[in-house]
Amino acid sequence: MGAIATDKWWDMDTVAVVTGSNKGIGFEAARILAEQGLTTVVTSRNEELGKQAAAKIQAAAPESRVLFHQLDISDPASVDAFAAWLQKEAGGLTVLINNAGPCYGCCCCGSGGGSRRG
Ligand SMILES: NC(=O)c1ccc[n+]([C@@H]2O[C@H](COP(=O)([O-])OP(=O)(O)OC[C@H]3O[C@@H](n4cnc5c(N)ncnc54)[C@H](OP(=O)(O)O)[C@@H]3O)[C@@H](O)[C@H]2O)c1
Repeated sequence: MGAIATDKWWDMDTVAVVTGSNKGIGFEAARILAEQGLTTVVTSRNEELGKQAAAKIQAAAPESRVLFHQLDISDPASVDAFAAWLQKEAGGLTVLINNAGPCYGCCCCGSGGGSRRG
């Protein structure tokens, strides 16, 4: 049986990005990462909902750096804009939780490859 690593390897310079983190599992994952002290990037395809979620997470983890940027993983222009912003703002990322990924192109998001739910 393998050992589970318990040493804390991250710090405030460790950047974690969570896609679809304005609600649900993505929101909770982002909140926990921020509470653990990582720089946490909240992303959402809806800017207003994403900013609201980021504010809630920042309130739950006041010592941590919580950032927000719009990101629709099904929109190449949005992905490019996000990548450029992330590189400039945070120098890249260490942790990616592609929470919205399983949703991309599935029945719950429409058959058009990650379009909004109807
Ligand atoms: N909950 C479960 O029991 C369960 C079980 C197995 C797998 N999963 C998978 O786990 C993931 C999260 O589940 P959940 O229950 O937390 O779902 P949820 O509450 O519906 O949240 C999904 C999140 O993904 C976002 N999203 C959807 N398409 C996107 C896109 N193209 N680009 C960026 N963000 C996008 C949604 O944004 P909007 O608010 O704009 O829609 C929302 O923030 C899903 O992929 C789901 O399929 C969930």
